[in-house]
This record gives sequence, structure tokens and C-alpha cells, in this order.
Amino acid sequence: MFGFGKPKGLVGLDIGSSSVKVIELRKKGDGYELVNMGVENLGQDAVVDGAIMDSFTVTTAIETIFNQNKIKIKNVATAVSGHSVIVKKISVNAPTELEVANAIPYEAPQFIPFAMEDVNISYQVLGPATAGPGFDVMLVAVKRDKILNHTNVLSQSGKTPMVVDIDAFALQNAFEVNYEPAPDRMIALLNIGASLMNINIMRGGVPLFTRDVSVGGNQYTDTLQKELDLSFDDAEKLKQGHEVGSVTPDQAAPHLRSVSEILLLEVQKTFDFFKQTTSAESIQQIYVAGGSARIEGLVDLLKEEFGIPVEIMNPFQRVEVNPTKFPADRIENLAPRMSVAVGLALRSFDTP
Ligand SMILES: Nc1ncnc2c1ncn2[C@@H]1O[C@H](COP(=O)(O)OP(=O)(O)OP(=O)(O)O)[C@@H](O)[C@H]1O
Ligand SMILES: [Mg+2]
Repeated sequence: MFGFGKPKGLVGLDIGSSSVKVIELRKKGDGYELVNMGVENLGQDAVVDGAIMDSFTVTTAIETIFNQNKIKIKNVATAVSGHSVIVKKISVNAPTELEVANAIPYEAPQFIPFAMEDVNISYQVLGPATAGPGFDVMLVAVKRDKILNHTNVLSQSGKTPMVVDIDAFALQNAFEVNYEPAPDRMIALLNIGASLMNINIMRGGVPLFTRDVSVGGNQYTDTLQKELDLSFDDAEKLKQGHEVGSVTPDQAAPHLRSVSEILLLEVQKTFDFFKQTTSAESIQQIYVAGGSARIEGLVDLLKEEFGIPVEIMNPFQRVEVNPTKFPADRIENLAPRMSVAVGLALRSFDTP
């Protein structure tokens, strides 16, 4: 997480490939209350694989959400993901935790496939090294042009980017606040959006392994378009369980399943790699966030494949929501898609 000031009074703003999502929370008692929620769809080519291509469309979407919801706060927390983000657990040979900071510039370059002047580096000390001297550290490197791509659009929209997080960590933040998982429970979070799936394997508040895979809802839509000769909009409707012309969701089911199997294979590969390189322990539970969590049959397929509990994540589970302002069906419908935005909004309450 890269901070540019004191994170106070922040709105969470998630610029995804299919839509911009905004969440504002307020502290209430021991918990939180939802103050504002907004979503604006972007169309197909404004954001491609997490990179903002058409800044005018994105700026307009951000302004629309803030105006319609009368959001006054200008400070925002945003997140990036995809190929420009590297997250890696490394061991740093430093005598004290404080000296890790001095060692990072020497240790980091060997783990980062980009020139050091092109990236912003951040890290979190996880604890004493499990093997050898020094400390285990979670190293995060994000290409500067990726950060600028997002912060420029936010500035153009009159917002002040105070925090640039990564999707996988914002997701974890939302998860922990809402589910308070037991410290020894090994959990995989999947955020399946339109173009990307963020995978975060975590335990006791520590991200153990993260990976972003280029597979998501667009792949389902593409497949339906090709196989059933449909427009993008019709394929989207069909995918979400609506009949389109004479084509029924039943006819879509085998095509959806074939894409789900590709997705499953990526999850399986990630879990295998994690087990081989990081930990012999098994993943005990999966939570699925993102709009594509709702793909018909996906959760059941994950359950079958891995034989562990799989649930759709609800980022409002422990957030008070006023049903007059936010009708229950709207919340229910949008919940999994808002997970990253909720995690970002929660940064407002981090102790600086
Ligand atoms: N009910 C539903 N059934 C199936 N798919 C759905 C449903 N609702 C939304 N989706 C899909 O979810 C995707 C959008 O999810 P989300 O908002 O999490 O993605 P994003 O953040 O815009 O994209 P990314 O994170 O990949 O850049 C779209 O592909 C959309 O078609
Ligand atoms: Mg997303």
C-alpha cells in the first residue's frame, strides 16, 4: 500500500474493467455503517485488463457517482492489479526489524522483473525469517506508470488519491473486517471480475501468496457471443440468467461450464504452486468475490473440485446498511462486486 498522506475521511474507489465502484463508510459503535454506494458501468474498452485506456469515460463515471450520491469527500483510496503488480514473500538479512528498510533497496531488485526506477516499492515485515537469519517480508512493487494511470484520472476528476492499494490486499481487508477469521485458518479469497481474477491465500491476517490471472467474466461473455452468435449486451444478459430472444439460460449452461473449468484449472495451478513452494498445509475454505462469483454453477464446481466449503463473500456482513436508503435486493445483487471498494473505504480507519 502506498500512502500519500494521512488516511482520514477517505472514500473507496475501485476502477474495474467493467465499472467504477465507490463506497463511503462511517464508524458506528464498534463497527461501520454504509454512507454511500455507487456503481457506474464503463462499456467495453474504457478499461482493458485493469489499464485505463479512455480516461474521459472513467472521469465522467467517477463524477457521475460523486454528484448523484452527493459525496463531499474528495480524498480517495484506490487500487491497482494485474501484470504491473508484483507481490512476493522474501527473506531479508537484516539484524533488526528497523534495518529491514535499509536492506530493501539492495534485496528487492533480484525479485522484480522491472527496472527499479520504474517501480514504487512497499513492504510489510511478516516476522522473523522461518528459515535462516533476518526477517520474512512481503514485498510489493507496482510500476509507476500504472499508479500514474490511475492517479491522473482521479486528479482529472477532482479527487485526491491518498492511498494506492492493490486489489488482493483491499479484498483481504474487507474480508477480515466482515468475517474475523480464526488466526490459524488458511483461506483463499478469489475476486473474479470482468477481466481479472485476484487470488489471495491468507492466514491470520497475513497474505501468504497472491496472484492475478487474466481470466474473468469477459471470457464467459466472449464464449457465449461466439458459440451462440450474440451481441456483447445479449451475451451479458444471458450470462446473468436472462432469456435472450429464443436462447435460454439452459442453452448457455454448457458454455459457461467450459469457461468455469478453465478458471478452475488456474485456481488449481495456483493452489498447487502455493503448496509446493510455501506451505504443506491445506487451504480450508474459499470465499469468492467479484461480479463473476454469480456465474451459474461456479461455486458448486469449486466445492466439488476442492472438497472444502466455498461461499460468496459479502462485504456488508458486518456493515450496518439502512434499508430505506439501500434496498436489500440492490445490496444483495451488488455485494460481491463491492468487496474491493469496501476494503478501500476501510482504509479510512487505519491508524496512520
Ligand atoms: N449475476 C451475474 N452473473 C454472472 N456474471 C455477472 C453477474 N453480475 C455481474 N457479472 C459479471 O461480473 C463482471 C463484473 O464484475 P466486477 O465488477 O467485479 O469486475 P471489475 O472490477 O469491473 O473487473 P476487473 O476487476 O476484472 O477489472 C462482469 O463480467 C459481469 O458480466
Ligand atoms: Mg475488480
